[in-house]
Amino acid sequence: MKAIIVTDQAEGTAGMKLTDRPEPTAAMNEVVVQVHASGFTFNELDWPSTWTDRYDADRTPSIPGHELSGVVTALGYGTTGLSIGQRVFGLADWYRDGSLAEYITIEARNLAPLPGDVDFTVGSALVMPGLTAWQGIIDHGRLQSGQSVIVHGAAGVVGSMAVQLAREVGAYVIGTGRASGRQAAHDFGVHEYIDLDNGTLEDVGRVDLVFDVLGGDIAQRSAGVIRPGGSLVTIAGPTDAKPVDGRTVDFIVEANRGQLIELAERVRDGRLKTNIGNIAAFDDAVAAFAPNVRLTGKTIIRIRP
Ligand SMILES: NC(=O)c1ccc[n+]([C@@H]2O[C@H](COP(=O)([O-])OP(=O)(O)OC[C@H]3O[C@@H](n4cnc5c(N)ncnc54)[C@H](OP(=O)(O)O)[C@@H]3O)[C@@H](O)[C@H]2O)c1
Repeated sequence: MKAIIVTDQAEGTAGMKLTDRPEPTAAMNEVVVQVHASGFTFNELDWPSTWTDRYDADRTPSIPGHELSGVVTALGYGTTGLSIGQRVFGLADWYRDGSLAEYITIEARNLAPLPGDVDFTVGSALVMPGLTAWQGIIDHGRLQSGQSVIVHGAAGVVGSMAVQLAREVGAYVIGTGRASGRQAAHDFGVHEYIDLDNGTLEDVGRVDLVFDVLGGDIAQRSAGVIRPGGSLVTIAGPTDAKPVDGRTVDFIVEANRGQLIELAERVRDGRLKTNIGNIAAFDDAVAAFAPNVRLTGKTIIRIRP
């Protein structure tokens, strides 16, 4: 099968190569999916799991991409809940070969049925940002109607999902980001927007929750604008930022079939929009990951046209 591989972290996206790899097979509780669309997160090549397995052993050449939609083509022994020919979407294991390939082996529990009227491109663009925002805003953030939330990077891929879910909860949503993201953040539903280069985070007063995708100094400053009993939820890596009389949750998104089903329902009835930037053909994927201009929105690779 055709797949994109990486072998050398120092090369970055320049080291991505479209090549031939053996077709995968399904073990117990797994399925093989013929991938139709694949998502790639821009900093995946910095993640240790792209390069090593769970025992810290080199696993290159590895196939990146962890978001996918496609059709089930084989079932491993004992696999229930999915059938051959079924449309699915889901999140692949961080430590295994990913979705920038014609076929992927994936645990069945990491997938959900993709409704027939949700396009493969949209399905794959929903996976990581949708699950991350759901888990950040609802599971870890425990956001309630009438509360207030700051969503950093509100015009970005994950932030734009978080804004929409926070609005659905009934919260007051303050988005942040660069000046260039203001209109997009409003289109996704923020009530207010702070351009972090020119505005002051501290001017918004106290909020119940900060959902942080930026980390560093922004996470530290965010801790100071959280009400007693409130939360800082971050996806930007370990932080020692902690609100006074509040909690900090730093988490990695997990696959969740029930949440994927909820997300697809929201796309179907118009409550949720994906934030897709560029859609590229498989043969053009390597160039799509090393653009000479900064792209906004999720890049999706159509593995099958
Ligand atoms: N822990 C997890 O499970 C998890 C899951 C998914 C993603 N992530 C991580 O979350 C981060 C965000 O991912 P994403 O896909 O949402 O990225 P993204 O689409 O680039 O979103 C980030 C947004 O923040 C803005 N921004 C970046 N740096 C900024 C700064 N210094 N000041 C103001 N605005 C700034 C960006 O604007 P520009 O576009 O103009 O730069 C963009 O609008 C990544 O590091 C990703 O690896 C973690």
